[in-house]
Amino acid sequence: MLDPGSNHSSNKTPKPPFQTDRPYITNLVEILMMMLYQHAKLRKEKKYHDQHIDQIESLCRERALQAFGLNHDHWGVNVQPYSWNSANFAVLAGLLSPGERIMGLDSPSGGHMSHGYYTPGGKKVSGASVFFESFPYKVDPRTGYIDYEKLEEKALDYRPKILICGGSSYPRDWEFPRFRFIADKCGAILMFDMAQISGLVAAKEAPNPFEYCDVVTSTTHKSLRGPRGGIIFYRRGLKGEKQQSINLNHCESNVQYDFEEKINFSVFPSLQGGPHNNHIAALAIALKQAASPEYKVYMRQVKKNAKALASALISRKCKLVTGGTDNHLLLWDLTPLGLTGKVYEKVCEMCHITVNKVAIFSENGVISPGGVRIGSPAMTSRGCLEPDFETMAEFLYRAAQIASGALREHGKLHKEPLKSMYHCKDIAELRNQVEAFASQFAMPAFEI
Ligand SMILES: Cc1ncc(COP(=O)(O)O)c(C=O)c1O
Repeated sequence: MLDPGSNHSSNKTPKPPFQTDRPYITNLVEILMMMLYQHAKLRKEKKYHDQHIDQIESLCRERALQAFGLNHDHWGVNVQPYSWNSANFAVLAGLLSPGERIMGLDSPSGGHMSHGYYTPGGKKVSGASVFFESFPYKVDPRTGYIDYEKLEEKALDYRPKILICGGSSYPRDWEFPRFRFIADKCGAILMFDMAQISGLVAAKEAPNPFEYCDVVTSTTHKSLRGPRGGIIFYRRGLKGEKQQSINLNHCESNVQYDFEEKINFSVFPSLQGGPHNNHIAALAIALKQAASPEYKVYMRQVKKNAKALASALISRKCKLVTGGTDNHLLLWDLTPLGLTGKVYEKVCEMCHITVNKVAIFSENGVISPGGVRIGSPAMTSRGCLEPDFETMAEFLYRAAQIASGALREHGKLHKEPLKSMYHCKDIAELRNQVEAFASQFAMPAFEI
């Protein structure tokens, strides 16, 4: 299976080192056994915490701060959220009252549904939109970049309590100073969802959100390459202690941030039960890896590979939203080929290539399901370099040619004609080429 597209989102977690730096924990099995034992023991003794479990969690928190270069005096972290979605909701529920206002990037513009998305028909899709009032900002349909001027205008009218930046399929860097400026102007807390790019942030291959934001959340299983779960970083300590160059509007002396207690209480006991200690132990291992020099090399390669893939597609006259990428993913607008993301995704799947359909905000402002997002982390984890991504571009382009040919032949690609394509000669040929190519690369953690 060739999966350039599967991270945007999920990744290939490398073989764990099977040891932490605590002498009594020598391998993962031992960690899990210990947890089962402790969990049972705690239940019996009606205790919530235990010294070993606490040690693992505080080690995990320490490593989280280290991985992102944060100082304990200024930042706190909660490593318990079961997923990013619950991390996000815990922040909103902890810092806002029901019905208060949030603003996030619209889902068809590349934002994540959990940032308060509701459909054009008004259906509230995520908990964030059900329990809070939300109003989206968008990308400029002509350029694909966030329209910061409109965002500022809207934010000043709407005055959200929390302004959310971050998204699922935005291929460009986030302009944090601009977000900070807007948040300050309307008195909002600035929150960044770095789920997609947390690996790039840890490796200093993306602008640093911690310099500007108040709260930063993430999944732990995307570019960070850890177990499935969520994490929340929040500012703590004295307000007004931040770098002088940043003009935050809450600089009263001797006033402390009050995020820590509210967010921690919101995660537990408000929204979650006991922590998933197995996840926290695995996250501690991933965070140690994320702070290593090898991980930085990996993330640098992720970026180089995404750029190589983008250039190779552009040289084949493919249309990429914003004309390229600053990070690990690219958005391919398939509308000039007459294809929808859904059909192309299916055709790619038949060729054993994983891509992910997304909406594209087209130049005339219409939202069309005509795109796919393709990311480089997963295949980079398998050891692929720039020339390999150029080969992948050729496979992706060939799949698009096959799909457009079939579309011309059938008029529309409904379920049956699509299904029957699996056995056609062109698809079978491409599938074999993809298999032969992908088999050259190791699958992390599956080496024998
Ligand atoms: C930007 C962003 N935030 C949050 C999530 C959701 O994470 P989880 O599945 O852990 O709730 C995603 C998933 O794709 C995402 O892209």
